[in-house]
Amino acid sequence: MSKSILIKTSIPGPESLKFVKDRDRYVASALGGSLSPCYIAKGEGAIVTDVDGNRFIDLTGGWGCLMVGHAHPKVVQAVKEQVENFTHTDFTAVPYNSYVELCKKLAELAPGKSEKSACLFNSGAEAIENAVKIARAATGRAGIIVFDNAFHGRTLLTMTMTHKSMPYKYKYGPFAPEVYRLPYPNTYRPSIDIKDLETIMTNVVNPETVAAMVIEPMQGEGGFNIPVDGFLEHIRALCDKYGILMVTDEIQCGVGRTGKFFAIEHWNIEPDIICLAKSLGSGLPLSAVILKKEITGSFPGGTIGGTYVGNPLCCKAALQVLKIIEEENLLDRAVEVGQQLKSRFMDMRSKYEIVGDVRGMGAMVAIELVKDRAAKTPAPDKVSAVIDYCVKHGVLVPSAGINKNVLRILVSPVITDDQLQEALDVIDNALALVSE
Ligand SMILES: Cc1ncc(COP(=O)(O)O)c(C=O)c1O
Repeated sequence: MSKSILIKTSIPGPESLKFVKDRDRYVASALGGSLSPCYIAKGEGAIVTDVDGNRFIDLTGGWGCLMVGHAHPKVVQAVKEQVENFTHTDFTAVPYNSYVELCKKLAELAPGKSEKSACLFNSGAEAIENAVKIARAATGRAGIIVFDNAFHGRTLLTMTMTHKSMPYKYKYGPFAPEVYRLPYPNTYRPSIDIKDLETIMTNVVNPETVAAMVIEPMQGEGGFNIPVDGFLEHIRALCDKYGILMVTDEIQCGVGRTGKFFAIEHWNIEPDIICLAKSLGSGLPLSAVILKKEITGSFPGGTIGGTYVGNPLCCKAALQVLKIIEEENLLDRAVEVGQQLKSRFMDMRSKYEIVGDVRGMGAMVAIELVKDRAAKTPAPDKVSAVIDYCVKHGVLVPSAGINKNVLRILVSPVITDDQLQEALDVIDNALALVSE
């Protein structure tokens, strides 16, 4: 088996090091560092080559944006062709069909019997902001319910909806009003009994003032948490009971990552609104709000929008992404990749006490590192040591979790089996080292 990883310089290498001084001087420091100290020259599939010629296996997938892999030739070709024709008009100035075609495809793919429509935006946060605006206008209510460990973005409203204080909220308040947080009992930490949720909710906010519950069917940044059985069904039932709209944030877990196009399909639930982003545009800035058509039926035109929303380059890329997922059977491949990940991680769990939990759906798989399996005490220092070892040995792997003690895999399912096993060997070696 020929190796994909190639480390031929110190990490970072001399060419990457050339950018350090200017980065320190000119890039706003609040952005922080990068997971990889090496600068990319080229991406292909699941492989990143840096400016020194070092080759890495990329398990970050651009923070989950690369379901179809780096620089998929069909995406590249579609974007090239579009650039040569026109790069921008604003759909509300001069329309183009790729916007319509994409909305049609997304509306047809969305689960449930109700007729759907869609609107496009630039980022995940922008999709969530618009879902909230729409839910408020549709219900005439202000309240928004969110959940423990949630991540919804970094704009003022979505930062408020996000759980973790540092770094996301820092000193950036005052925060948006009318956001209420409820527990999200997950398989590793089932914090509450589902039957208590309604009482917890009614103690926090009068449900008759709530416009929407916004929930990640499987949490991303919050630690790849999977809700306990029955939780999402219970959320749907509470929404129905109190006239609240159920909004699923599938920005990280959608577009096939869990083995179904929409993660919520695993539960056979029809949300009122679904938000997608990340892999939809294969890294080009594109998000979508897909909703029951009746919701915005009576809204005046022009009440949502934006200059760049649904840019033609992004729409063309997204149409290819949808096609590639189908043609290359990437939903099935996501499941296979997930099986390989889980099987190797379970093996690591049997060898290393610090692996407290292995969990995931489809290719969205994580391990949680703990100091003590019984107490489940988070071990964030071990996670950063693993990440550090992996980068130096040719694997880019991100963390997650409110306590930063989760290693999560956001690799593109286009990764080959050999590449996946090679990356997992490196993670195994890292865990052996940090377990000593
Ligand atoms: C679940 C979820 N929602 C919202 C967002 C925000 O998306 P963006 O960074 O594109 O604004 C993210 C980003 O990581 C996310 O994972």
